Amino acid sequence: MSQGTGPVPTTTTNAGAPVLSDENSLSVGADGPIVVHDNYLIEKMAQFNRERVPERVVHAKGGGAHGTFKVTADVSQYTCADLFQPGRVTPMLARFSSVAGELGSPDTWRDPRGFALKFYTQHGNYDMVGNNTPVFFMRDPMKFQDFIRSQKRDPKTHLRSHNMQWDYWTGSPESAHQVTWLMGDRGIPKTWRNMDGFSSHTYMWINAAGAKVWVKYHFKTMQGIDFLTDAEATELAGSDPDHYLADLHSAIERRDLPQWKMSVQVMPFEDAAGYRFNPFDLTKVWPHSDYPLIEVGQFTLDRNVENYHVFIEQAAFEPSNLVPGVGTSPDKMLLGRMFSYPDAHRYRIGTNYSELPPNQPIVDIHSYAKDGAMRHTPANTGAVYAPNSYGGPSAKEQQLTDPASFSTETAELVHHAYTAHAEDDDFVQAGNLVRNVLDDAARERLVGNIEGHLRDGVEAPIVARAVEYFTAVDKDLGENLRSRMGVGDR
Ligand code: HEM
Repeated sequence: MSQGTGPVPTTTTNAGAPVLSDENSLSVGADGPIVVHDNYLIEKMAQFNRERVPERVVHAKGGGAHGTFKVTADVSQYTCADLFQPGRVTPMLARFSSVAGELGSPDTWRDPRGFALKFYTQHGNYDMVGNNTPVFFMRDPMKFQDFIRSQKRDPKTHLRSHNMQWDYWTGSPESAHQVTWLMGDRGIPKTWRNMDGFSSHTYMWINAAGAKVWVKYHFKTMQGIDFLTDAEATELAGSDPDHYLADLHSAIERRDLPQWKMSVQVMPFEDAAGYRFNPFDLTKVWPHSDYPLIEVGQFTLDRNVENYHVFIEQAAFEPSNLVPGVGTSPDKMLLGRMFSYPDAHRYRIGTNYSELPPNQPIVDIHSYAKDGAMRHTPANTGAVYAPNSYGGPSAKEQQLTDPASFSTETAELVHHAYTAHAEDDDFVQAGNLVRNVLDDAARERLVGNIEGHLRDGVEAPIVARAVEYFTAVDKDLGENLRSRMGVGDR
């Protein structure tokens, strides 16, 4: 807050009329009762009672900033999306977050971190709502709600419970890859500036000729990856619970602008069906040896928001915000998220959430939406229905990207896991991460973090299951954990 220099304006009501006092209610004589027709007092009390919107059901604690995305390479052979064309510069908004903690929770609790980007493109808003890990805990949206409940608070005690967390994880072996990331160094980044971001999901890119490829996005921090140990994070949770929020804000204020390089992995459309594991399975990464990174561009966060509530709390990111040139994939998680986010926004910040400042596109809107609470832009003046004879908008079907046409087969409706690929397995990639990516010191921190987590209220049968789970990930890791936890051999 800066000290004002000009003349101090007169306080007004929300309707703009001058108010007579900031401090004293209207009363019957100096010592008599206050009166209900003191409109300004009532307005103040009523507005205050409604100041909060519900916090996000997940990713409640977060912060962000405005930025600029610049394309530095030529990927037009893969996508015709306007924002990815050579040299293009696109304004954007980023929001980083933790998943399970509430709005006031400490930044440094171990958790995946959200990495949500909104690009204000010439073809409407494009949202990339990812995390700081390239994989996730499950591959079917049916399991998301159960997973989140296991990470939030116990219904009886209202305490977070490591027992619930490990019960869920060890009962869901497809979580092994993500849990290994989470328990390792990436589980507590040093700051938001020191973490990478990933789409995690596979998307479709479509070029101007209509040719399709599969892509995964990577955003590499240019500040360098860095992390906190369990002990450092615990200390900060007490001494500086808003550590990430403060760090991002102050870096931008001192013009030490954080930047991320964007690359994609590109898989030819035809490779997907015969690939050795299901490439749309969100618990898997694509090895870079098969699909190397291809440079796209970089973004810079260059402006703090003017008001946290308006631009960050009311920001509505949604994987369903796609633009021509980008489509979905058969990733069931991505398809599930297409419904969930707009639905969450309608509940949390209202039907007309897309009119709020952070969510407004920079292009004109010609939709057939109309009315509803808090509406402030009129519906089309030509006509409010289609088709019409009065100049109302008309969809140009040839411009659509046909996002769902990944298969021409007519499928029967089934409740079924993905069909098997030769190397689908829940533990192989987690094991590769432990053996081939981590060094000895990182492996030691990983097992120490797992031990610390398990010793915090996890019941014996679930500890035994966790030992089996990590033995399946990596034999040595499992044995190390077994002896540290004093669990007997099977
Ligand atoms: C936030 C649902 C999986 C990243 C949210 C929100 C919901 C939700 C309801 C709150 C939205 C709001 O109120 O603004 C789901 C469902 C999932 C899923 C149903 C699985 C089927 C994922 C995955 C990722 C992810 C796999 C990352 C790859 C995020 C992020 C936010 C978020 C970053 C916060 C966005 C922001 O900053 O406002 N999710 N989620 N979610 N989710 Fe998910």
